[in-house]
Amino acid sequence: LKKHKVACIGSGAWACAAVRIVAYNTLHNDPRDEFAKEVTMWVHEEEVNGRKLSEIINETHENVKYLPGVKLGDNVVATPDLLEAVSGADIIMVCVPHQFVHGICKQLQGHVSQDAIAVSLTKGMRVRPEGPQLISEMVRNYLRIDCSVLMGANIAQDIASEQLSEATIGYTILANAEVLKRVFETHYFYVTMVPDVAAAEMCGTLKNIVALSAGFVDGLAYGPNTKAAIMREGLQEMRQFCKALYPTVRDETFFESCGVADLIATCYGGRNRKVAEAYVKALMTDHPKTFDELEAELLHGQKLQGVLTSNEVQEVLRKRGWQDDYPLFTTTNRIVNGRLPPHAITAYRDCGIDGF
Ligand code: NAD
Ligand code: 13P
Repeated sequence: LKKHKVACIGSGAWACAAVRIVAYNTLHNDPRDEFAKEVTMWVHEEEVNGRKLSEIINETHENVKYLPGVKLGDNVVATPDLLEAVSGADIIMVCVPHQFVHGICKQLQGHVSQDAIAVSLTKGMRVRPEGPQLISEMVRNYLRIDCSVLMGANIAQDIASEQLSEATIGYTILANAEVLKRVFETHYFYVTMVPDVAAAEMCGTLKNIVALSAGFVDGLAYGPNTKAAIMREGLQEMRQFCKALYPTVRDETFFESCGVADLIATCYGGRNRKVAEAYVKALMTDHPKTFDELEAELLHGQKLQGVLTSNEVQEVLRKRGWQDDYPLFTTTNRIVNGRLPPHAITAYRDCGIDGF
């Protein structure tokens, strides 16, 4: 019987932490003997210390730039060639920052086995003139294969150090989700399944906006009551937005790891929070910095998703005349774009008032 071969598109921090789990499972946690041992990982090639990153990964089994100090497994093979990465693969993980997925899908079109299944770990959405599109929808449309999502409270470094974590697979086809659960679940990483791709993926996307709001609160040195108030309103607007765009989403999904748990983890320990806090602190000095500057300075090549997502979601809100119905999202977007000062975050209820 042909064994499932896993390929990962992407090699950033989360991609590497997730591949490390998969590589462990294919070698040591495969009671049905259903997975090929080798896992392929596509690397967006770049030079690190004068050498190609893909070569460094293959030699040291470590992504020294995006997840330093963590061995991925000897059975992970890195390649800078996208088509080579998916060749022979029938389980395709997509884990690149969301702004790059469309370009990658176009390159992959027609080159992926029609027996394959995909799973997106990417948190973000695409806004087209005709409306927003989930990343899973884009993958499904371009590659013509089923695409589930794996979302959750999944700070990459914590999972790389094998701290107990949970994740949620949002699926359309249960049999595919069951295979994916066996690919990802391991002794420190528990995976549940929900038949609700849209809510799982939208939660993962929208909480990045709320993490910026939480970072503003931290930058202003307000305490836990304020942060909790902002997170509560954020969760409320996340659910409202999901239901407005995808009326079939289920309330229960918001209580899974992909919902409230990811919101909490990201608002306390994520990169969006960290950079938003730094933005506020820099504004208080004689040397204010832009989000782009802070992303480069603090994340060393890792990518911030919240600022782009805030602008993308705001475009949807503006086009549909919904801005006043989402006061936290709208206020956060105005702070991100310098149209309101950070302290406006605590007055988000007044976002529609002229001259605020
Ligand atoms: P990352 O932010 O650590 O790294 C950025 C990656 O983008 C690098 O691999 C870089 O090579 C790549 N890149 C840069 N320019 C590119 C281009 N033009 N085309 C393609 N790739 C390019 O990456 P990550 O943490 O793996 O994030 C991927 C997705 O996973 C994001 O949507 C993120 O929200 C999500 N996610 C991240 C975490 C986390 O803790 N890091 C956790 C859960 C989900
Ligand atoms: P950040 O991109 O803000 O680090 O969030 C990571 C994440 O999605 C954790 O689940």
